[in-house]
Amino acid sequence: MTNSALATAHTNVALVKYWGKQDLEKNIPATSSLSMTLDGLWTRTRVTFDESLESDLVLLNGQRAEEKVSLRVSGFVDMVRVMAKTNCRVSVETENNFPTAGGLASSASGFAALCAASTAAAGLDLDLQQLASLARQGSGSAPRSLLGGFVALNLKKAESGQDCVVQQVAAAGHWDVCMVIALCADGPKKVGSTAGMERSKRTSPYYQGWLDSHDLDMQEARSALERRDLDALGRVAERSCFKMHALAMSSDPPLIYFKGATLNAIERVWQLREDGLAGWVTIDAGPHVKVFCEAENAKDFAEQLAKVPGVQKVMIAPVGPGVKVGQ
Ligand code: PMV
Repeated sequence: MTNSALATAHTNVALVKYWGKQDLEKNIPATSSLSMTLDGLWTRTRVTFDESLESDLVLLNGQRAEEKVSLRVSGFVDMVRVMAKTNCRVSVETENNFPTAGGLASSASGFAALCAASTAAAGLDLDLQQLASLARQGSGSAPRSLLGGFVALNLKKAESGQDCVVQQVAAAGHWDVCMVIALCADGPKKVGSTAGMERSKRTSPYYQGWLDSHDLDMQEARSALERRDLDALGRVAERSCFKMHALAMSSDPPLIYFKGATLNAIERVWQLREDGLAGWVTIDAGPHVKVFCEAENAKDFAEQLAKVPGVQKVMIAPVGPGVKVGQ
């Protein structure tokens, strides 16, 4: 058995979001989703099965991870140990080249990299859908980071119940677009996405409307993507994003992921769009604003967003590649 493997996975940002789980225990999303994998923002993880270890050792950016993170990683590796029929402990060294747990999908790239590295290190030979099913149990958005380009995670009925299948809808070369990311605050969010989703599912009066209107968003987004229609895809992305945040805000107690800088950045993007610079905002379970635009306009958006009060840093991410595994 190969006992060490390194994997690099890029983050992704959903253009059509998922928010809510139909099965919390198996971590199955309540809706499909469609994302863009981002170049330049990655997690790199080395997993080593090591007989000399008495317990798993998890290092995050060179430091011992806090207990909550270690337990989540060990829980994930437990599934791999069951599949590989081993009890061997692991060391997991993981590094993000962007802020962790602040609504920048570090769990997506994190669990995609952990899934690819741990299964390779265990000598398991899994196909893409098996990897996706495993990655999903770490984080609902992680299967999408296994692939590059534009990626759908579709719900599907399986023999064992409901599952999801991951699908590359278009390769990275299909369309020269970017996400311009405006970092609008420091530090991790107070309420993680799983807790937030459960709260919305239980308490938001709009949850059923979100489920009912989701298929149309998926259909329109797929069709716009195929036609490379920025206006159409941008419109769907904005409405999916604000429906998701409306669910969060209408939860009891309410959940607001925005900061002041988030609203400033949204306003600036909308003003720029009125002035002829085409870009659409999307925001995940955190304060950061991402602008979906043609690559040729990314620098202009980045320059403008850098001047917005409260915006701390701006990054430009083109469409990125899928997960890569090495030794
Ligand atoms: O991967 P999770 O379960 O932490 O969920 C992330 C959900 C959003 O980022 C808010 C939306 C999405 O589809 O990525």
